[in-house]
Amino acid sequence: MNKKERKGILLSGGLGSRLFPITKGLSKQLMPIYDKPMVYFPLSVLMLAGIRDIALITNPENIGLYKKVLEDGSQWGINLTYLSQPSPDGIAQAYILAEDFLKGSTSALILGDNLFYGDKLSDLLIKANNNEHGATIFGYRVSNPSEYGVIRYGENENIALEIQEKPAKPPSNYAVSGLYFFDNDVCEKAKNLKPSKRGELEITCLLNSYLRDHNLNVINMGRGYTWLDTGTHESLLDAGNFVRTIQKRQGLHIGSPDEISYQKGWIDKEQLIKRANLFDKTSYGKYLEQISLDF
Ligand code: DAU
Repeated sequence: MNKKERKGILLSGGLGSRLFPITKGLSKQLMPIYDKPMVYFPLSVLMLAGIRDIALITNPENIGLYKKVLEDGSQWGINLTYLSQPSPDGIAQAYILAEDFLKGSTSALILGDNLFYGDKLSDLLIKANNNEHGATIFGYRVSNPSEYGVIRYGENENIALEIQEKPAKPPSNYAVSGLYFFDNDVCEKAKNLKPSKRGELEITCLLNSYLRDHNLNVINMGRGYTWLDTGTHESLLDAGNFVRTIQKRQGLHIGSPDEISYQKGWIDKEQLIKRANLFDKTSYGKYLEQISLDF
């Protein structure tokens, strides 16, 4: 019997209040990061991991917008399902909302405002995808750990003892990035969580429940990787500048679902050219056309 393929969840809800007033009328994860909508970047990460069946969760009023931007996924050889989160009651709530979608599959959850980049990122993601046991998270050294979930380590940085959400006194500089791989126990575990003091089902509590069961793998991303989140005006601009700088220097794009699906053989040349023609007034369209000629 074929093993069940891992499914993806892209969490793109929330109020976006840290980006007010620009997000008062628009979903944060549709804001531009230089030349692409923010949501392209985390979507590309799930695709790089080889995941093709993905649920996007967002506020009910934004579902129509996401469908317009991302359609049903067939243009990339993937399947997109849209689920609604009536109010932002916590990241872990995604696993209560997506239980029927997952149907017992293992999964990867990514936050819609996270950007990952780096050589060998695909290898790391495929390795995490192939591990069906427990949960896997990615630690990343940051200068401002109190703004994130933070890892408290044991004797060395291979042993995590606890994850603390936005601690005033961080036990390390290692933040938990917004990408999580889970086995198929995750929905049951999410249903057993109690809301935190701020009224949310916390992702950190879900991770700590895996830790207590000795089932949490921590992979630290070293210096060669970039992890940015884009939840404030400053970090949004930083991410846009980062993407522009790399793309200009290398002539290679970051966060292109079109390129990834073509390279993985999920779409053919004809489909890629159709996409390139859609965007023919932009450098992105020209880039896609170039790829179709090169490979
Ligand atoms: O970016 C990584 C960090 O993400 C982790 O280190 C933290 O442990 C985790 O709690 C989270 O912290 P944030 O402060 O970034 O969480 P925030 O509430 O801003 O939500 C992150 C994204 O998830 C944001 O794009 C909105 C979306 N979201 C959030 C909640 C709480 C939803 O779609 N629904 C929700 O209910």
